[in-house]
Amino acid sequence: MTVDGPEQLEKLKEIGAICRDVLRAMGAKVAPGVTPRELDTMAGEMLRERGAQSAPKLAYDFPGFTCISVGDAIAHGIPSDVPLKEGELVNIDVSAEKDSFFGDTGASFAVGEVSSELWTLLRATEAAQRKAMFAARAGEKVNVVGRAVEKEAKKHGFNIIEGLNGHGVGGWIHEEPSVPNIYYPSERTRLKEGQVMTIEPFLATRSHQYVEDSDGWTLRLAQGGFGAQFEHTFVVTKGAPIILTA
Ligand code: CO
Ligand code: CO
Repeated sequence: MTVDGPEQLEKLKEIGAICRDVLRAMGAKVAPGVTPRELDTMAGEMLRERGAQSAPKLAYDFPGFTCISVGDAIAHGIPSDVPLKEGELVNIDVSAEKDSFFGDTGASFAVGEVSSELWTLLRATEAAQRKAMFAARAGEKVNVVGRAVEKEAKKHGFNIIEGLNGHGVGGWIHEEPSVPNIYYPSERTRLKEGQVMTIEPFLATRSHQYVEDSDGWTLRLAQGGFGAQFEHTFVVTKGAPIILTA
């Protein structure tokens, strides 16, 4: 959607802050021995207390309030009862609706101590998200996002997972345009002032593709290794983004 006035912006800020608070609370609880279901149950309670609904449940009948992807799972993981293990990464993606407005945010977290390679993967993916978000100004082409993500990934020798993209958001969980993390020179679409969108790079150590698990939801790294994702919802302006989930 495109923001049309201060009342809409306030509503978007409200749902953005709810998504941020839920993600932060869940991230703070990530530790060896904690189960994704425990984190998801807490998220469900927090959303209810704030008068919000889980977007994946609302839009796709997803079997969880949030997506929690562990190990070689990179996205859309179903919250399980398998305790988190020291040294692995967990991705948590929180998207929610309140008063017909939607927000979407995500982050990957280290479980206990992780290798320096995984730590670098986390920081590079977070930096790619941030640099791409600040490049996404009104009037620029959508592919400034892919260009910024590719630059950051190459700097550290990481791969970008093809086909997992940012997107328009705000009036529904997934809206146009699709925002690739790979640079396509032929892209024509330009970013508009007031446009509400997400940027969510997925970087990985070995894989550049994903496969869908037999559970019908979980997306796993096709060539193995480790992956990370960071995501924010923001409003496009001529200058710095208005970040709704930070
Ligand atoms: Co998300
Ligand atoms: Co998203």
